[in-house]
Amino acid sequence: MSTQDLRARLEYYRDLGVKDLYRRSATAAQPALVVESAPEVVFAQPIAKKPVAVAPKPVPPPLPPPPAPRIEIPKVTEIQLPGMAPENDTLDRICSDIGDCTRCRLHLGRNKIVFGSGNPVSKLVFVGEGPGADEDEQGLPFVGRAGQLLTQMIEGTSAKEGIPIKRDDVYICNVVKCRPPDNRNPEPDEMEICGQFLFRQLSAIQPKAICALGSTAAKALLGGKDGVTKLRGKWHKWRDIPLIVTYHPSYLLRAYNQDAKREAWEDLKKVLHFVYD
Ligand code: SF4
Ligand code: URA
Repeated sequence: MSTQDLRARLEYYRDLGVKDLYRRSATAAQPALVVESAPEVVFAQPIAKKPVAVAPKPVPPPLPPPPAPRIEIPKVTEIQLPGMAPENDTLDRICSDIGDCTRCRLHLGRNKIVFGSGNPVSKLVFVGEGPGADEDEQGLPFVGRAGQLLTQMIEGTSAKEGIPIKRDDVYICNVVKCRPPDNRNPEPDEMEICGQFLFRQLSAIQPKAICALGSTAAKALLGGKDGVTKLRGKWHKWRDIPLIVTYHPSYLLRAYNQDAKREAWEDLKKVLHFVYD
């Protein structure tokens, strides 16, 4: 190609916006890349002389395929899914498995994990939503205003109905063990992760009945989307354990809920008689 042709080609590249051209040195044994700015390229020498014939590298014979690895497939009964209840599970074991849990984002804002409290062999378990500020501070469930109402409900209804039980005779816990920031509802993934511990608690205790307080507990234990109004007043089941849904005590603390209060007392009477008669 003549110098004139090269110059025309170069201008064509420049019009296209190509600023740098790369040219291999024709003489070096180890060809080096030369970077040149387009406007300053001087095409004094032809680029290459004769192409050098390179002998093709010998291709090594293909390797024999590696022996297939022996994969031990465990029997279905031997697979331990995470979160699955170990045999002879106990509340102590669940508590120590929780440890200083960071399995969900709720650990970020918590002060204390609120595992649960009460009688570990109780025939009745109350399940709330998650710790509030007072619970987070003390590490105990239902110790704030809603908790005082729950205690009154349990002890007041039992006394009226001639059932000799106190709050300490039942077991109380929550769906999530760490306080959600600003008392927001737990997110579905938080309920799913921490719910594994709730399920283990219920399986270890094997109560005669469960009382789900509010729609978060109902959702965690029954699945589905129905709220308390739809679910309360009839029996459900968590696995094989009879379950009653009633209003959360925080909801009952709102003065405009006189009907809900009466209904909650009815629900409570029902479950207390079923368990203790
Ligand atoms: Fe762990 Fe439950 Fe607390 Fe989440 S809420 S960090 S899963 S203990
Ligand atoms: N509300 C809950 O759901 N749980 C508690 O422990 C306290 C308030």
